[in-house]
Formats: sequence, C-alpha cells, structure tokens
Amino acid sequence: PAILVVHGPNLNLLGQREPSIYGAETLAAIDARLTQQASQAGATLATTQSNHEGVLVDRIHQAAQEGIDFIIINPAAFTHTSVALRDALLAVSVPFIEVHISNVHSREHFRQQSYFSDRAVGVICGLGPQGYELALNYALRHLAVTTT
Ligand code: DQA
Repeated sequence: PAILVVHGPNLNLLGQREPSIYGAETLAAIDARLTQQASQAGATLATTQSNHEGVLVDRIHQAAQEGIDFIIINPAAFTHTSVALRDALLAVSVPFIEVHISNVHSREHFRQQSYFSDRAVGVICGLGPQGYELALNYALRHLAVTTT
C-alpha cells in the first residue's frame, strides 16, 4: 500500500514556529519517523509540504495517478479557507484523515471551521506531532484489511 502525507502552509517552519503551540520538533523529524513507521509495516510513504494552494491541489491530483491508497493531510491554514483543496480530495476520492498538531477547538473561533472534517475518515487534533503517527497507524491497519 502507498500513503501520502500532505503538509500545508507554514508547517515547513515547525520547530521554530510558535513552539508553545506547535512544539519543538521539525517537519523533517516528523516525516522521518513516519517513513520508518510505514516501511516497518511494508508500506510506501511519500511526504510533501507546500505553502502554495495550487501546488497542493496538483500534488493530490498526481497522488491519484500514482495509485496512492490513503492520504494523511494537515491542511494548516487552508483548513479554514480552501474549497479548492477540499474539491481536489473529493475529485480523486482517495480516503483521508485530517490532522492538526494543535487543538483547533481551543483556539480562535475561525479555526473551528474546517472545509475537510465532514468528508474525512477521521480527524485528529491537539495531540501534537503524535497525531500523524496515530493517523498512519489507522491507515496501515485499514489498508492491511482492505488490500488483502
Ligand atoms: C494547524 C492549525 C491551523 O489552524 C493552523 O493554521 C496551522 C496548523 C495545526 O496543525 O494545528 O497552520 O493545522
């Protein structure tokens, strides 16, 4: 099975960006751990990060062509703004989990609106970078069931 992890805008700054909210770990460290977790389970993992909405839309289209089975996405600020990214996920109909490092429900009111949650398999927020691992764990088990 093949899984794609998509990180939205400003997540390239993890480790230095508002560490009291997002923690000290870098995106590279998170991606390395996820890659290892997937390979131990015999799955292929690709990761991508962009600050540009259209680049993320294109990457999701490409994922479908590559035969990606599952997407884990932290749309970051696009969570609250992007119909285009929502539509891209619906267009390719690849199942996805929405992850947020912070608990968006305990923050500004505008962060409580998501263009993704109603179509996600599930949503994880507030558990820090571990949320990605939990999402990947779910995806790996789900794919082990559905691909055998
Ligand atoms: C975030 C929460 C968003 O509201 C914010 O814009 C981000 C990161 C999170 O992971 O907690 O950039 O998605």
